[in-house]
Amino acid sequence: MCGIVGYIGHRDAYPIIIKGLQRLEYRGYDSAGVALYDGNSINLSKTKGKVDDLKSKSESTISLKGSLGIGHTRWATHGVPNDVNSHPHLSNSGELVIIHNGIIENYDSIKKELIKRGYTFHSDTDTEVLVNLIEEVKNQEGVKLGKAVQIALNQVVGAYAIAVFDVKKPDEIVVAKLGSPLAIGIGQDEFFIASDASPFIEFTNNAMYLEDEEMAIIRLGKEIKLRKIKDDSVVYPNIKELQLNIEEIEKGGYDHFMLKEIYEQPRAILDTYRGRLLADKGLIKMAGVDENIEKFLNANRIIIVACGTSWHAGLVAEYIFEDLARIPVEVEYASEFRYRNPVITDKDVLIAISQSGETADTLAAIKLAKEKGAFVFGVCNVVGSSISRETDAGAYTHAGPEIGVASTKAFTTQITVLTLIALKLAKEKGVFSQSKYHEFLTELENIPSKVEKVLLSNALVEQVAAVYKDATNCLYLGRGYNFPVALEGALKLKEISYIHAEGYPAAEMKHGPIALIDEHMPVFVIATKKGHYEKVVSNIQEIKSRKGKIIAIVTEGDEMVRDLADHVIEVPETFESLTPLLTTIPLQLLSYHIALMRGCNVDQPRNLAKSVTVE
Ligand code: G6P
Repeated sequence: MCGIVGYIGHRDAYPIIIKGLQRLEYRGYDSAGVALYDGNSINLSKTKGKVDDLKSKSESTISLKGSLGIGHTRWATHGVPNDVNSHPHLSNSGELVIIHNGIIENYDSIKKELIKRGYTFHSDTDTEVLVNLIEEVKNQEGVKLGKAVQIALNQVVGAYAIAVFDVKKPDEIVVAKLGSPLAIGIGQDEFFIASDASPFIEFTNNAMYLEDEEMAIIRLGKEIKLRKIKDDSVVYPNIKELQLNIEEIEKGGYDHFMLKEIYEQPRAILDTYRGRLLADKGLIKMAGVDENIEKFLNANRIIIVACGTSWHAGLVAEYIFEDLARIPVEVEYASEFRYRNPVITDKDVLIAISQSGETADTLAAIKLAKEKGAFVFGVCNVVGSSISRETDAGAYTHAGPEIGVASTKAFTTQITVLTLIALKLAKEKGVFSQSKYHEFLTELENIPSKVEKVLLSNALVEQVAAVYKDATNCLYLGRGYNFPVALEGALKLKEISYIHAEGYPAAEMKHGPIALIDEHMPVFVIATKKGHYEKVVSNIQEIKSRKGKIIAIVTEGDEMVRDLADHVIEVPETFESLTPLLTTIPLQLLSYHIALMRGCNVDQPRNLAKSVTVE
């Protein structure tokens, strides 16, 4: 987590860094800081709070001059979020300044050693230890900054993306990466450094991403020098032209990124299958699957690993793969999978799902599965992300940048990609006849317009939100394909409105949660026509008998549930396996409106970050 930005060139660094940090706030936003070199010395400003707070503070307290600078927006790991613990951190001499995203696990022992050698520390951070270790190495070994960074990093255990410069050598920035992302933008006589490309996309499309265990010396007027941290071997820069454009990362007239991203779903789903789904030809083309089709067809089972919302998409995929393609699937939290000594063989296919492509636990699960010989396939949104590079093959979701911390369009596009894969395998395995396959492809093509239709219920959802905005607990129930949607609905509410919510398979309600139901408990039930409809109706009756408030997501034209529920929100009819793409939309809107009505920060909920690059 944490966002880092750096600039060296001929422009004023400050506005680039501030704007860049604002774009990276999705990565963490409990404190922020900037360090600028004005030609003589470093001007440092740091504060608890958001980048806007940093802006107010720095504009009234420091000189903003300089074409060299680094900035940081933090998600606290070591030390509470306060001004002192904010980055950048200075070394004891005041000559080196660093920003860091990640965790130095052995910082305590290094700190003790440095204290013995006379170093003093002002913050509780692991980062301040790292910058002083670099300083100590530089002085003791009499080496330049780049070499000192390399030697120091070989002594640390942990994860990092760092940028550091030396006030005595203000024509260069040294960067390094292990586990956390780091992109370098290459302009005309200028360089940009950032956790992703969004801070520099309006200045240059030319960028490169550091790989793990690589470092770079970025010097004005020179080519970037890339090295392996461990053995000092030379690496040749792989500079790419980025496709991202600036409109995609702005709010485009919406009040919040989350709302924009909810409304983008018809387009995002379409972009996900565009060029892949050729319904008229009865074809699904996905290079990553086509080239490895035997691996999928001969797999003993598919293991899906993911975290958060992506894990919920994995649960939907379990239903889809087993139901449509008849392939056994296990879905695991990446954080559990990686540490539980799982049985993995070279006959397993592991699918890792991740919007950011940077989630530390998911990356670790991938590495473990690869070591054991499994074929690893990635479903990522961020192009060029660590997971997309670490996997054997993959498919992008093409949802476009998702900036709201609560994931929305990533979820529906992940389900879309996984559905395409399952349909393809169903066809290849002969489980599906050509006509059934064709029907599915055609229906999938109808989904964007059906999502548009669901979005028309926004005003109704807003009214429902007004009724339940003060609830302290909520239950979300669904069965089959819509059980994961219930989990996802509950997660959305928790994340952004801080209301306690639980998702449950509707039938399991009887085994515990039913004890919670009284006249104060809103219960959101997904009760679409297909998918155990009658059973869910019985569950609704059980809630009603206990005076629970029922808000039901139903299929258009439903009469039976309408008679029972306090509120109904309709979605168009579709195939059962495709219903999650529709039923999830009102639940996203509901959490958005409730959060807004409760005065919560929708795009930047407390304590969360979009990209979790620490385990
Ligand atoms: C964080 C985000 C969630 C996301 C999860 C997994 O917790 O706040 O929205 O679902 O990480 O992220 P990934 O990028 O791997 O999908």
